[in-house]
Amino acid sequence: MYGVIFDFLRDYVIERHGGEETWKAMLKANGYGYKIFFPVTEYRDEELVALARTAAEALHTPLSAVLEDFGAYVGNKLMTFYHMYTKDEQWKTFDVIENAGGCIHNAIHKHNSMRKPPKISAHRETDDLLVLRYQSHRKMCDVVKGVIRGLGERYGESFHIEETCCMHDGAGECIINVYRIH
Ligand code: HEM
Repeated sequence: MYGVIFDFLRDYVIERHGGEETWKAMLKANGYGYKIFFPVTEYRDEELVALARTAAEALHTPLSAVLEDFGAYVGNKLMTFYHMYTKDEQWKTFDVIENAGGCIHNAIHKHNSMRKPPKISAHRETDDLLVLRYQSHRKMCDVVKGVIRGLGERYGESFHIEETCCMHDGAGECIINVYRIH
């Protein structure tokens, strides 16, 4: 996973969970004295999950909840950081999700042959129901759910999110129904 995501995790911990001291303690607990993550350098996925697990333990919260909360935080940040790949003034949450696969994840760092972006596709069943399919060896569907909530906050929309099929239960992909609530 790219360092940019680790940087956002650092910002998330510092802003929402106790500042620099918490981040330093998390690094220490994972065996780093001090560590800088470079945005377009690839780091092992396990490092991110290990850091998130340490945060979950410190907060006495399930790992899935920490990943979802982090997703809500990072979705918003990514929209701002990678504004060149988006149409923020024209898009709402469903538009971002529909563009997450081809236009966004595949476009980012497309010259890096090492990248393994998540596969995200979506179709609208109705104006208020979008069915999202997610597949990635990282199995981060909790982050997906958080990203949807974060985007909803950005665009003033609320959703009921229901995962009907999950890779953690052995499925080949996660299927997530996203109902827009009026
Ligand atoms: C402006 C919109 C978006 C940008 C710029 C963006 C960017 C990124 C980047 C840079 C990564 C790290 C990839 C890597 O290290 O190889 C990533 C990962 C990820 N993104 Fe996005 N993303 C966006 C929208 C979304 C949306 C809408 C979703 C889901 C609803 C999503 C779900 C994920 C997930 C789950 C990961 C973790 C990696 C994995 O599962 O394999 N992203 N994204």
